[in-house]
Amino acid sequence: MPTLHFPKHEKKIEVTSGSNLFKCLRHNQLPVQSACGGMGTCGKCRVKYLQDSPSTTPSERVHLGPDDVNKGIRLACMHAVDNDLALELFDLDMSTNAKEQLHAELDVALDPGVTKVFLKMEPASRHDQRPDTERVSSALGGRRLRWSKTVNPRRSGRARSGTPRSR
Ligand code: FES
Repeated sequence: MPTLHFPKHEKKIEVTSGSNLFKCLRHNQLPVQSACGGMGTCGKCRVKYLQDSPSTTPSERVHLGPDDVNKGIRLACMHAVDNDLALELFDLDMSTNAKEQLHAELDVALDPGVTKVFLKMEPASRHDQRPDTERVSSALGGRRLRWSKTVNPRRSGRARSGTPRSR
């Protein structure tokens, strides 16, 4: 079984021979970016080979500059792991430092100030012609709501405001 060694972080993992490097990293919950899921089209899964970097693939020649290639940077999804490798992960650095920094700086519970609520309401009818804003507020137990500009019926017309329109 080949070993992936990350000397900067004193971390080693064993992987199955012949497996895809990107999948190995993801499988071991190591941070590697991707927007294409390992298809070789986004160019985000950059890793640095600290020795014996493999030949570049056509996809890498599109996404990596000559400086990157010379430094041993490759796209993880383009290569299989056949032998022991020494690598550097850019996001491993960022994620551990960012987490430690966040823990050190934040001594408060995070509260986004936004709550997601699912409402199922009866459609307006002849017997219930209240404005949608009132109906939503009522369905939330009479809670007072602040409507954003994008939802505010008086500004966007997305919900019925109850204000009769002249024709
Ligand atoms: S994951 Fe998108 S190029 Fe590798």
